Amino acid sequence: MKLTIVGATGMVGQTMLEVLEQTSFPCTSLFAVASPSSVGKEVRFRGKAIKIIDIEDAINKKPDLALFSAGSDISKHWAPLFAAQNTYVIDNSSAWRSQPDIPLVVPEVNPEALHKGSLIIANPNCSTIQLVVALAPIHKQFKIKRLVISTYQSVTGSGYKGINQLLQEQQNKSVEKPAYPHPIHLNLIPHGGAFDEGFYTTEERKLEVETRKILSTAEIAITATVVRVPVIGGHSMAVNIETEKPFELEAIRQLMASSPGIKMEDDPAANIYPMPLYAQGKDEVFVGRVRRDSTIANGLNMWIVADNLRKGAATNAVQIASYLLKNNLLAQKLT
Ligand SMILES: NC(=O)c1ccc[n+]([C@@H]2O[C@H](COP(=O)([O-])OP(=O)(O)OC[C@H]3O[C@@H](n4cnc5c(N)ncnc54)[C@H](OP(=O)(O)O)[C@@H]3O)[C@@H](O)[C@H]2O)c1
Repeated sequence: MKLTIVGATGMVGQTMLEVLEQTSFPCTSLFAVASPSSVGKEVRFRGKAIKIIDIEDAINKKPDLALFSAGSDISKHWAPLFAAQNTYVIDNSSAWRSQPDIPLVVPEVNPEALHKGSLIIANPNCSTIQLVVALAPIHKQFKIKRLVISTYQSVTGSGYKGINQLLQEQQNKSVEKPAYPHPIHLNLIPHGGAFDEGFYTTEERKLEVETRKILSTAEIAITATVVRVPVIGGHSMAVNIETEKPFELEAIRQLMASSPGIKMEDDPAANIYPMPLYAQGKDEVFVGRVRRDSTIANGLNMWIVADNLRKGAATNAVQIASYLLKNNLLAQKLT
């Protein structure tokens, strides 16, 4: 198994290397790619120093699998070139997510999409991943009608630029290349991506489009507000859910406690609820503050937290790769 990581020096790329190290995913050769300014530098993988190479060199190595996390321009240009020479691409950028013929996959929710034969597979947006892991079991049983989402997104979601800005500001230093148009230290910024003509941001629209695609329904009404917060450990979201079918609160709790990928942390009397500080470095989606919204007939509120670099990006990508391997999809390609 020849593996390439495109964006190996970035926050997601580094987390991919970490997740791969922690799993038994087979890898005979690993090629690490970053921008031209990083070529010749080294990253570490399974105890070895790996030299960064140019993306042209990486494609010439004809890897079996390429994990992309270097932004959507790189993915738009290079993913089809890798796929054209029979390399599976799992892409973390937004380049391919809304293309109807490209699978957008969270393995706990819609692994069947991986059987459609596409060599390019899109990893969803980090907030979408944690949202659908928690919502898919509820949708399956009680049919979700409407969602009102407010996110509290970590600076790690903006890569090294985001974390650098927060750390520099905390030390009262000037920030050379800020990730945000305002200070993030001691602040909240209700702005993720670019604004559209409806005054929503691209990050808010991704939650609408990607959630419907993964849950295979055009019918759920979704409205979101995305907020960047001065937090490092992960993304949090307050979600208001309206279902078509009535439910018992206990049934929702049991569903959350028994569904794959979810860890319930919900004991208000003991001050137990999910928090990003404790989600950092973990692969689960943490769910808590589960309670009825009694202002509507079938209403529910919950609080969902996950490490955006792990389940929101690297872990999900490695789970997709493991699914391909386990179901002989990678092996079919290798033979
Ligand atoms: N951060 C998250 O939570 C998250 C979650 C889901 C998806 N994503 C997506 O994942 C991607 C990477 O995000 P990140 O947070 O890891 O960003 P990051 O920390 O800024 O890292 C960007 C990576 O891309 C590389 N790169 C830049 N230009 C390149 C080029 N011309 N050729 C090859 N590599 C190039 C960088 O290499 P150098 O070090 O040489 O500059 C670096 O390795 C983005 O598309 C982002 O939207 C991020």
